[in-house]
Amino acid sequence: MNYAPVVASLERLAELDIDPTRAVYARLFARYPEMEALFIRDQRYLVRGQMVQMVMENLLDYATDRTFGLPMIQAERVNHVTLGVPNAVFGIFFGVIQETIAELLGDDWTPAMAAAWGAMLASLELDIVA
Ligand code: HEM
Repeated sequence: MNYAPVVASLERLAELDIDPTRAVYARLFARYPEMEALFIRDQRYLVRGQMVQMVMENLLDYATDRTFGLPMIQAERVNHVTLGVPNAVFGIFFGVIQETIAELLGDDWTPAMAAAWGAMLASLELDIVA
């Protein structure tokens, strides 16, 4: 699968100079309100901002060079158990990232981007369990 449209979507977001942090968590908490309490100490959205940044870097790496993204995601799944984050939430979070980017790009979001993101996240899900 060609993940170039995933890269293009992330590049477009950067060009537009949009920080997706608030929109990502608004979407996550609307769907999974129980997740909000886990971030009670992060009043200024600093941890959350850094986390979205890291997740997007990991996904970009998974879409391209495949050097650090997958191992880091696997390690964070283990680390996050002590933070109260079930493993299953990772896939949900990646889907929320995709949906948020689609929302923020508006007319710049293309069917090719949707297809590439969908295929990439499905492949990632399989790689993680493997
Ligand atoms: C690849 C995926 C992820 C990466 C790289 C990542 C990275 C991080 C990092 C670097 C921290 C700060 C660590 C610390 O303060 O000790 C953190 C904290 C946290 N993460 Fe993640 N994270 C990921 C996925 C998730 C997901 C899916 C959730 C659930 C929605 C989540 C929930 C949290 C929570 C609740 C904290 C603690 C917040 C706080 O201390 O106030 N993370 N994460």
